[in-house]
Amino acid sequence: MYGPIITQKTKNIIEKERKYLSYTTRVPYYPLVVDYAKGCIIKDIEGNEFIDFLSSAAVINTGHNHPRIVNAIKKQIDKFIHYTPAYMYHKPHTDLAEKLTEITPGNFDKRVAFGLSGSSSVDGAIKAARCFTKRPKIVSFLRSYHGTTMGAISVSGYNIGMKKNLGPMMPDVHFIPYPDSYRGQYNNEDLISGYIGSFKELLTTILPPEEIAAVIYEPIQGDAGVIVPPIEYCKELNRICKEHGILLIADEIQTGFGRTGRMFASEHFDIEPDILVFGKAVASGMPLSGIVAKKEIFESWNAPAHFFNTAGNPISCVSAIETIDIIKEEGLMENAVQRGKYIQDRFRALMDKFDCIGDVRGKGLLIGVDIVKDPITKERDINKTAKICWRCWEKGLILAFFSGSVLRVAPPLTLNQGEAERAMDIIEESIYETEQGMVSDEVLKEIKGW
Ligand SMILES: Cc1ncc(COP(=O)(O)O)c(C=O)c1O
Repeated sequence: MYGPIITQKTKNIIEKERKYLSYTTRVPYYPLVVDYAKGCIIKDIEGNEFIDFLSSAAVINTGHNHPRIVNAIKKQIDKFIHYTPAYMYHKPHTDLAEKLTEITPGNFDKRVAFGLSGSSSVDGAIKAARCFTKRPKIVSFLRSYHGTTMGAISVSGYNIGMKKNLGPMMPDVHFIPYPDSYRGQYNNEDLISGYIGSFKELLTTILPPEEIAAVIYEPIQGDAGVIVPPIEYCKELNRICKEHGILLIADEIQTGFGRTGRMFASEHFDIEPDILVFGKAVASGMPLSGIVAKKEIFESWNAPAHFFNTAGNPISCVSAIETIDIIKEEGLMENAVQRGKYIQDRFRALMDKFDCIGDVRGKGLLIGVDIVKDPITKERDINKTAKICWRCWEKGLILAFFSGSVLRVAPPLTLNQGEAERAMDIIEESIYETEQGMVSDEVLKEIKGW
């Protein structure tokens, strides 16, 4: 067999997983059972090594098992593992909350509420917005992904499969299109006026603005395929919200903690959201999420109605404090900008060689590469995308895709130049070999992607 050695050891675990785990908890990629991870490198239980261009879905921004994170966790474990902050105080919990109010956009008083997963904090943000404004409606975006709890899935516009047979969803959620300069319905000159115009039309026809609690959006749409909105669109959206007393909720779960070259992606667009939701990378892999909101928003919600027994766990909190310090002190945002530029430049150069690369976009180390059947029609090439990722795995690179046809480049922010070059060589070879028909259709039974 071409590629990594896979023995019965791996097959047994995968069979067991299929026997005992719910299918709904997994997005199928390749037969890789993780055994060890350090920096940007993962080893499977067979001893095969891979460069990680996924970083556990943009969770491991500081690199796998950063020694400072490991130390902080070990020290905390020796003290105590958990006591619920819903009943008692602990220092890591309060220290982290203070730090988060300092590093999030906006020079105003803020309050923090922790959760366990991004989804749980999206639900909390919706509750906070409704409670503060006393309005029911939420506006969200088509193709957005906000999570899988009932509130988060209700405001997600990602795909039909996610919502099928789960209804009724949370009522009073309304979807508008996200400004997409590559696949959207407006050309570049009309992009801002077109998308803003369609939102304004809703506000004068079917959606009374005084009934809208919040607009929830991703500052860069992640799972939709890394869609970067024009800065003027974001400013105008923000202005319209302010005009009507509608809160702006920025879902920074994927874009936060240095991923795009800034601590939060809202900074690229000069936006200070009323409510910011974070998760994923905050604690370098320990479970933690949360909401940072303007003080008055949380103060209007004066009842214990958003707490979870193991949220704000002290091990997760010390890991998060260390994560924030590492991102700043070790120059990870600057590294994301430099490595991201190198990767985007390499992909752009490949566009001359391969017609299947339709578009390259992103910021920092959140990059999407659209794989198409034809650069003029922009028809998605879902099978080719899956085969390229499979070939990359065979050659020692973890590369995933989203929205069916967009290669997802999201390595740890510690990626060094040698790793970036090696990974791009693998991608170039994999695209070439896929184009040459060297990857069998059989692999499509295994790799389904997101
Ligand atoms: C933008 C965004 N929002 C929300 C979520 C949900 O986070 P979680 O899976 O931690 O619930 C994700 C996760 O992928 C995400 O990317």
